[in-house]
Amino acid sequence: MNTSTVAGAPNLAPLTQLGELSLAEFMADYWQQKPVCIRNAIDLEQPLIAVDELAGLALEAEVDSRLIENQGNVADWQVIHGPLSEADFNKERDFPWTLLVQGVDCFVPQVHDFLAKFRFLPSWRLDDLMISYATKGAGVGAHYDRYDVFLIQGEGQRQWQIGQTCSENSGLMAHDQLCLLDQFELQQEFILNPCDLLYIPPLVAHKGTAVSDHCVTYSVGFRSPSHSDVITGFADERNLDLSADLRLKDRGKVTHSAEISADDVADLVRLMQQQITTENVAQWFGKLSTEAKYPNLDMAEEAMDADELATIVADGYGVLRVSEGVRLAYTWEGDGGLTLFAQGEALPCPPDTTDFAETIANQWLIEVDQLAPLISSEAAKAMLLILHNQGYLYFADE
Ligand code: SIN
Ligand code: CO
Repeated sequence: MNTSTVAGAPNLAPLTQLGELSLAEFMADYWQQKPVCIRNAIDLEQPLIAVDELAGLALEAEVDSRLIENQGNVADWQVIHGPLSEADFNKERDFPWTLLVQGVDCFVPQVHDFLAKFRFLPSWRLDDLMISYATKGAGVGAHYDRYDVFLIQGEGQRQWQIGQTCSENSGLMAHDQLCLLDQFELQQEFILNPCDLLYIPPLVAHKGTAVSDHCVTYSVGFRSPSHSDVITGFADERNLDLSADLRLKDRGKVTHSAEISADDVADLVRLMQQQITTENVAQWFGKLSTEAKYPNLDMAEEAMDADELATIVADGYGVLRVSEGVRLAYTWEGDGGLTLFAQGEALPCPPDTTDFAETIANQWLIEVDQLAPLISSEAAKAMLLILHNQGYLYFADE
């Protein structure tokens, strides 16, 4: 598989180190175990997005945004759900406020590229990159998330307080739109400067407060379906393939007619187990893991044909990119076949397309001058065209 990059291409390489911490130490001591604050963890030569552009995104109907003004006590938390209006931003506010914009990686190429740094973890677990902008004193209150989250300070300074590990039984404040904890047991406290990172595992209470104006925080969140989502999601998917004509059979004559016997139960277990094959589970999970965060986004690229593709490859200029917001993953079947998953779809890959499928899914970008050997077969060219014409891939200058 081709993993090289060429000078001049955007750097989509995964991180190899988190500040002073090696990835091996991070994985062994913190990941999914306990919070850690890492100073100068990530180079940020410049902000990922200008605040004006972030505010502009919050005006768009397809973008998930919120403006939260905290006015001191529970009843006074004001939440305005996007799309926001110019008037929401122009209004004089008496209290500190935070703008939160979800899934910025789906709209802004350099934010999508930043997310690539986290591919030292499975990229099919990446959910999105949320950006918050806060005025001095603002925060969104004490809460916990069910996701792993990396909080990276982009601009300004934010104080983070870390509290107890919560559960679904943890008490919440009475608020119809925010899930805020009614108790916060402070355990650690940090002030983050640009490039510092705080990792917070699922269920750990946290509370951020902007200690400067113009406080911008990037949150990289990881999806993780609940066990109950796994069970119901898999069952729903199999349901689509099972005819209603297939019915349970009983074993006939019995002595105790009210008894559901161990054999009856064993038949049911067998029936269910027949569905839990490696292939069924892999196919369903690949689709689930690559589902679009915003399924209604218009991704359509202008359709390209084989001749146009040949011209681009012959010119050898630019890059082939995975579109912003698109998730790719793949799985090898027992028989050596590969299935590529894109936006919740499964695409079986013939053998001479697998190098291309693997490379684009793992790297998110291929230099056009390195493309030819990966798409030397007609099948691989066809695969590229399908992905391109669906809007999952696009050609760009860089
Ligand atoms: C924020 O950036 O203000 C909130 C992020 C979080 O707590 O998950
Ligand atoms: Co949070």
